[in-house]
Amino acid sequence: MDNDSVIKVRGLTAIIDDQVILSNVSFHANSGDVTVILGSSGAGKTVLLKHLLGLYPSAPEAVRVMGVNPSHLGEGEEKHFYTQLGVFYQNGALLNSLTVGENVALPLQQHTDLPDEMIERLVKLKLSLVNLEGTYNMLPSSLSGGMLKRAALARAIIMDPPILFCDEPGSGLDPVSLASLDNLILNLQRLLGITVIMITHEVSSIFRVADRIIFIDQGRVIFEGTLDEAIISENKPLKEFFRKGRGE
Ligand SMILES: Nc1ncnc2c1ncn2[C@@H]1O[C@H](COP(=O)(O)OP(=O)(O)OP(=O)(O)O)[C@@H](O)[C@H]1O
Ligand SMILES: [Mg+2]
Repeated sequence: MDNDSVIKVRGLTAIIDDQVILSNVSFHANSGDVTVILGSSGAGKTVLLKHLLGLYPSAPEAVRVMGVNPSHLGEGEEKHFYTQLGVFYQNGALLNSLTVGENVALPLQQHTDLPDEMIERLVKLKLSLVNLEGTYNMLPSSLSGGMLKRAALARAIIMDPPILFCDEPGSGLDPVSLASLDNLILNLQRLLGITVIMITHEVSSIFRVADRIIFIDQGRVIFEGTLDEAIISENKPLKEFFRKGRGE
């Protein structure tokens, strides 16, 4: 295993309502990479993400994110841990009663004592990074689906997190908006050095962004490797997944 792993999962099993959702899952993600967790609907991807975020309990050594198990943090550690993560949730919506600027500013207001002018400057900087200049005073209801996704991305990176988790960031987008969102995420990884963990079942996204791939099928990791290794892999379910995703 790479010493540079920011995430290490070893023998993680998750049972919810007597159902085995994750079975002896092991993998790692390297610092600075875009690691894609892929798999069909219901495979267990979001449940896995929730374990990485400490929303479900896990055995102390089963999950390590930046060297700690997020479900075993003391009170002081918790605040530090969560300010280090950006999370872009599946269907993660902005609050409609707040402007785009206020939505993006929320984490800064909750976790820092920065003055309002500084917060406004940081928010505008992040909005420009996601190509949303000029939306600061707009309400979310006046943005397109692709713009909403980018605003949610700006909110996820407002605290300059070393790790960004994205759960199906492109869901519901047309192919052009999906490609531009992927490119934006790649730019953030390259410009800001963010380690990205992206859950998706969009094959086109995987080819655009992935450095490494973790393929989950019915709660088990059935492939772990680089994108190049995945492309030439003889792993049947993986080949089938790529084939279907290309519409063949
Ligand atoms: N809170 C819960 N209670 C009971 N079952 C759950 C719960 N959360 C998830 N599951 C079950 O766990 C399995 C995996 O769900 P999960 O949400 O991780 O799938 P997924 O891979 O993220 O799928 P999708 O691509 O559709 O988002 C599913 O069978 C789901 O019904
Ligand atoms: Mg999911």
